[in-house]
Amino acid sequence: MSAHDQVKMTKMNYSKDRPKAENPVKIEDLSLRDGHQSLFATRGRTEDMIPVAEMMDEVGFWAVETWGGATFDTMHRFLNEDPWERIRTLKRYFKKTPFSMLLRGQNLVGYRNYADDVAEAFVERAAENGMDIFRTFDALNDYRNFETVVPVIKKCGKHFQGCICYTMTEPRMGGEVYNLDYYVSKAKDLEAMGADSICIKDMAGLLAPYDAYQIVKALKEAVKPPIHLHSHFTSGMSPMTHLKAIEAGVDIIDTCMSPYAYRTSHAALEPLVMTLLGTNRDTGFDIKLLAKINEKLEKEVMPKYKHLLDDSKMSIIDINVLLHQTPGGMLSNLVNQLRELDALDKIDEVYKELPRVRKELGQIPLVTPTSQIVGIQTVNNVLFDDENERYKMITDQVKDLCYGLYGKTAVPIDPEVQKKALKGYPRGEEPITCRPAEVLEPELPKAKEEIGDLAVDMDDLLIYALYPVTGKKFLKWKYGKEEPPESVKPVTMDDVKKREELVKKALAGELVEKKQKDMPEKSENLRTFNVFIDDEYFEVGVDEVGGSPVLAYAQQLATAPVMPQPMAMPAAPAVAAPAAPAPAEPAKQEPPAEEKKDEPAPAATVEGTELKAPMPGMIVRYEKGVGDTVNEGETVVVLEAMKMENALPAPCSGTIKAVGYDSGDSVAKGDVLAVIA
Ligand code: CO
Repeated sequence: MSAHDQVKMTKMNYSKDRPKAENPVKIEDLSLRDGHQSLFATRGRTEDMIPVAEMMDEVGFWAVETWGGATFDTMHRFLNEDPWERIRTLKRYFKKTPFSMLLRGQNLVGYRNYADDVAEAFVERAAENGMDIFRTFDALNDYRNFETVVPVIKKCGKHFQGCICYTMTEPRMGGEVYNLDYYVSKAKDLEAMGADSICIKDMAGLLAPYDAYQIVKALKEAVKPPIHLHSHFTSGMSPMTHLKAIEAGVDIIDTCMSPYAYRTSHAALEPLVMTLLGTNRDTGFDIKLLAKINEKLEKEVMPKYKHLLDDSKMSIIDINVLLHQTPGGMLSNLVNQLRELDALDKIDEVYKELPRVRKELGQIPLVTPTSQIVGIQTVNNVLFDDENERYKMITDQVKDLCYGLYGKTAVPIDPEVQKKALKGYPRGEEPITCRPAEVLEPELPKAKEEIGDLAVDMDDLLIYALYPVTGKKFLKWKYGKEEPPESVKPVTMDDVKKREELVKKALAGELVEKKQKDMPEKSENLRTFNVFIDDEYFEVGVDEVGGSPVLAYAQQLATAPVMPQPMAMPAAPAVAAPAAPAPAEPAKQEPPAEEKKDEPAPAATVEGTELKAPMPGMIVRYEKGVGDTVNEGETVVVLEAMKMENALPAPCSGTIKAVGYDSGDSVAKGDVLAVIA
């Protein structure tokens, strides 16, 4: 049937009361998960979803995706939000539309395979908190990684959607590995596992329209469950891909509301609704309602996120993705990482090395977490390898992959790389071939023991079990044991207004250019003082560094009302910033002893060979402490960069004389992590 035959012009109408189509395309909206994950680094806050939630509930979506993927990580780490609370809160506004989440198979919402007890508890809690559809995928399409979660999804009476990650090695579908037969056989596997629907997950926007037609047609013939298409816009093909998939009979399509659409996200819903209007696949959606939702988003929500949008390029499509087959999120991660390392000029080398690393690691699909695993290893190779030696710095995750902890790769891993990665690997130097979680000991009892009473219930415990370092930090914020830093606080519309006014002033040339001064970063110990001089009022931040107070910033606030009794100024302490308008009251209060030791030990002043951070990141843990002896090459500290853990080896043999940081600390490139002598 051609597209034209499908158009049976009925009395057309923008609103919902037009005649119902024979076989309406069902739509899942991704704005509240993949949309902001793709465009705004997953920084969407629950409070910004609420204003449109009730209206979105009226649209008639098959489902709304509200959770999973990176949301769990970013919410507790960067937003100081309890991820479980988001499901419960949104559920109060979405009364009829089912919720869908992205579940990374045995990786759950993290970046490694967790033990079965964690996987079972996680799915149970997600279902209990309000999740309805579990879109489940495995980065290697190794469905043994579904064997634990699927029975729990079914037991909870929820919808199991099985995914096939779409990837390629050739410019179009085909070749030796990822051809039509591969996808059909994967779909049959999912059907046999009891999939309630099957999703083609095209995370990089690689699925070409005519390949989509072929694959959807073949799957519709081969299996019974409804076929769902998830195709990112990144390359610009997805609206065409959607249309061809619809002609081939696809049942459900993923889209976003237009402010959350395009670029590395998904095609917008509204043009698709108009395209199908009056055909036998008409969605039946009310265009005016969609416009209302968009207006609210445009005016009240999106301005808060505008600064997170990567608008460094004019074009909204990325043709590099067609050449390098890297998902959009992975590309921007790579670029960010290189930028932080001051190595953006190496991007072409990274592009060249990437297919090679991917092939050596078993020609795996590139989707979280494999996209990060391949991406970070590629960056490591480009930065640290030389002509004599490749894979000089192998991440722990690549070692796990080589051991078989992620599952079976599409083609065997390069034996030389595998051997090198597994040299001294703690689980053993021989890779496994069984279902990965079979070798994992239960993790919950140990997690419970470690976190103790800080985890009040199973939801808390899972936050810790999935993210031990940042999860523990979050639980301390949640229960008032630690003050959350400024950086996790939301941007308000007031902030947006101030920012816009500043930009306007700057454009009008009304801002006096100030010579950029190296301003130290504000620490957690920063204290704020109100300083009154005559009828002026200043807010002064004082941050104690190495003993003498330094004025970190001095900001004049709006002229305050005349203060009847200006505060007497105490004798001025020695301040480092001469431009300060007023000396601040020195911080008299001694910080509690316990806080004081938070200050990094001045490792840089100890004599010896320094182990420096090769890249910015967060300290996961020290494997060696002061006084321990180490051999050259032994792991001293594990640094998390771009969510991958890197074991940093001792540059020489000797004794650890000093360590610079603590678990959970952020470090910059070049920071001295330890001194060995
Ligand atoms: Co996606």
